[in-house]
Amino acid sequence: MAFMFLRETLRAYRERDPAARSRLEVLLVYPGLHAQLWHRLAHRLWGAGLKLPARMVAHLSRFLTGIEIHPAARLGRRLVIDHGMGVVIGETAEVGNDVTLYHQVTLGGTSLGHGKRHPTLGDGVIVGAGAKILGDIMIGDGARVGANAVVTQPVAAGVTVVGIPARPVERTRKPAGRDPVFEAYGTPCENLVDPLLAEIEALRAELGALEHRVGRVLRQPVGGQ
Ligand SMILES: CC(C)(COP(=O)(O)OP(=O)(O)OC[C@H]1O[C@@H](n2cnc3c(N)ncnc32)[C@H](O)[C@@H]1OP(=O)(O)O)[C@@H](O)C(=O)NCCC(=O)NCCS
Repeated sequence: MAFMFLRETLRAYRERDPAARSRLEVLLVYPGLHAQLWHRLAHRLWGAGLKLPARMVAHLSRFLTGIEIHPAARLGRRLVIDHGMGVVIGETAEVGNDVTLYHQVTLGGTSLGHGKRHPTLGDGVIVGAGAKILGDIMIGDGARVGANAVVTQPVAAGVTVVGIPARPVERTRKPAGRDPVFEAYGTPCENLVDPLLAEIEALRAELGALEHRVGRVLRQPVGGQ
């Protein structure tokens, strides 16, 4: 069981993080994977009624990984927590299979009641860095939550939401003619141009043209046409 967990989770990290160069690297230096391993232990202890030891394991895990997962939270298979620092997953949160969470994501509560008060994420959900999903709401299968969004209402399957408060958006950059496979960072990889780089290139071109014109003006004889 643990072997299967490791095998498929390592593969998921390799598939979803372009920076992951080998399974060994993921195993050794990915805090998101380590936090899940600690969580498996904490969750077992919690289920066996050993609540304080479970909390202590979760606390140690937070200290070591920067990721806080309540021992009672339910995590699905092939979960990728990328970077991980600052992730908080509350007590009654439920996470489906093949979900991707980036750093600073909060699956938090909005009430002080003891019942279900944290979100449920369907399969294949991607949650961008810094996003907060709050309350007992459902995020449907394949939905995507933009970086830094604050989500307090349910999100339908396949929908992308961004902003504060989060609102649905249409993709303005279509992935050219291919199946909706996982896209690292929730964005299409094809035709992806770094906007900052594009801006710098445009400025360089403008500067080159200006230099050329200034050179021509300086070369003209004084009073000449
Ligand atoms: C939400 C997201 C998945 C949308 O990607 P997409 O489907 O390719 O959508 P587009 O880039 O075409 O954007 C659609 C619209 O939403 C806006 N938008 C996209 N992401 C946004 C965000 N996080 N916050 C606010 N607005 C956002 C775009 O400006 C665009 O608005 P417009 O229609 O007014 O031009 C992506 O922008 C995102 O936030 N991914 C998370 C990445 C991340 O956390 N990476 C961490 C790596 S360490």
